[in-house]
Amino acid sequence: MNDKIVIVTGANSGIGRAAAIRFAEKGYKVIIACRNLEKSKKVQKEIIQLTKNNSIDLLKLDVSCFKSIEDFCSEFKKSYKKLDILIHNAGYFNHGERNYQLSPNNIELSFATNAFGPFLMTQLLTDMLKKSEDARVLNSCTTNIRHFLNQNGKLTLIICRGNL
Ligand SMILES: NC(=O)c1ccc[n+]([C@@H]2O[C@H](COP(=O)([O-])OP(=O)(O)OC[C@H]3O[C@@H](n4cnc5c(N)ncnc54)[C@H](OP(=O)(O)O)[C@@H]3O)[C@@H](O)[C@H]2O)c1
Repeated sequence: MNDKIVIVTGANSGIGRAAAIRFAEKGYKVIIACRNLEKSKKVQKEIIQLTKNNSIDLLKLDVSCFKSIEDFCSEFKKSYKKLDILIHNAGYFNHGERNYQLSPNNIELSFATNAFGPFLMTQLLTDMLKKSEDARVLNSCTTNIRHFLNQNGKLTLIICRGNL
């Protein structure tokens, strides 16, 4: 066991699940942050059985929804004293989608899930990350994003404050 704490969003499948297992094997305290609790409870159990690490907690998070992010962060702060690693893994990309989907906050769903949500979550957990000696924030992203950009264009970083 070690005293490090890691949050992995969307850890009930794929890369997130694999990452949660690796951290559990190394003795981290792992918080799997998932929107579907029923499905994710099974994965939580599976990770505990597989790794013999009982410090695997499941907290509800829909990363496309500001209210859910706020609830998750205040719940996390009640139970933990610091955060060492925040992994933004939950992702939504549906290239074939015909219908334009909106998040509960009326933001296009992939942008809400992959950009706004992780940004807000990082902001709300910054105080907890500052309590770690070696804090890290990681994003599982994809190089597919380049197809959305003009090859000659520049990516503009927009920092939003205040009314999120
Ligand atoms: N696989 C690849 O080849 C690849 C390559 C490059 C980048 N990536 C990136 O790596 C990440 C994981 O990919 P993956 O292949 O492992 O995908 P995956 O198996 O489809 O897993 C995606 C996870 O994100 C969760 N999720 C989606 N929307 C969410 C939301 N609003 N709130 C909370 N959780 C949400 C899903 O939960 P539910 O079960 O509830 O839907 C699922 O657990 C993604 O960000 C993806 O863009 C993947």
